[in-house]
Amino acid sequence: DPHKWVKAGATDLRAPCPGLNTLANHGYLPHNGRNITVPMIIQASLDGFNAAVDAIQPFAKFGLLSSNAPETLNLDDLVLHGLIEHDASLSRLDAALGDSLHFNEGQFSTLANSNPGVDYYNCTSAGQVQRDLLAQSIRLNANQTNSPKEFKIRTRESAFYLSVLGDPLTGVAPKKFVDIFFREERLPIAEGWKRPTTLITAATLGALQTVIVANSEWSPTQACETEILGP
Ligand code: HEM
Ligand code: MG
Repeated sequence: DPHKWVKAGATDLRAPCPGLNTLANHGYLPHNGRNITVPMIIQASLDGFNAAVDAIQPFAKFGLLSSNAPETLNLDDLVLHGLIEHDASLSRLDAALGDSLHFNEGQFSTLANSNPGVDYYNCTSAGQVQRDLLAQSIRLNANQTNSPKEFKIRTRESAFYLSVLGDPLTGVAPKKFVDIFFREERLPIAEGWKRPTTLITAATLGALQTVIVANSEWSPTQACETEILGP
């Protein structure tokens, strides 16, 4: 099986992104995490997650700016703070507070303990997690950045984990699947996960994001201009 999960080795490069890391661990992206093009990311996201080009291409192109090479990136380039990488992450420490690249169980505990009493996460719990992690980041990090840019990226990432591990139309995702995705950067196939049959698009993500936003009680700390990510 060319897409068997193989844990990242000592010389393999990985990103602050559990999505790209999972694609690399399953061989949809090069397992060494090196010399990755935008078309490779687009194809891997479709093959691994059933995520469409319009959902992936803007992020992939934006992410390319983290690299010195003209047309490729290494996964660890994406740790560049302030490009995509931001504070108040779900599973990584703020850059000013520690390791913003690797999974951190303490940081992940807010998400892991959310939506108590049921066995799934949804858009309501995802919004509450974003609210609580932002409050924590503001409390601990004197260099905290929280502009509309960071908020939009964070909300898109929440919609991503609910869609890939759950139902892209309802945003309901089994906790067991989401937790394995973050902790092991593995597709929980052995546990019963199946690639979504619904294509994940900018539109399906956007619909979930509307509900996540409504539950996150967000207000900006800094202002920024609207970023233009495509035509
Ligand atoms: C973070 C999922 C594609 C770059 C994240 C996070 C999730 C996620 C859930 C939040 C991690 C956290 O807060 O701890 C996905 C999925 C993708 C995908 C399912 C589908 C393929 C991409 C692409 C790029 C990218 C195409 C750019 C090339 C990043 C970066 C972060 C991130 C830099 C770190 C942000 C931070 O938490 O500070 N991603 N992602 N991702 N993603 Fe992705
Ligand atoms: Mg971060």
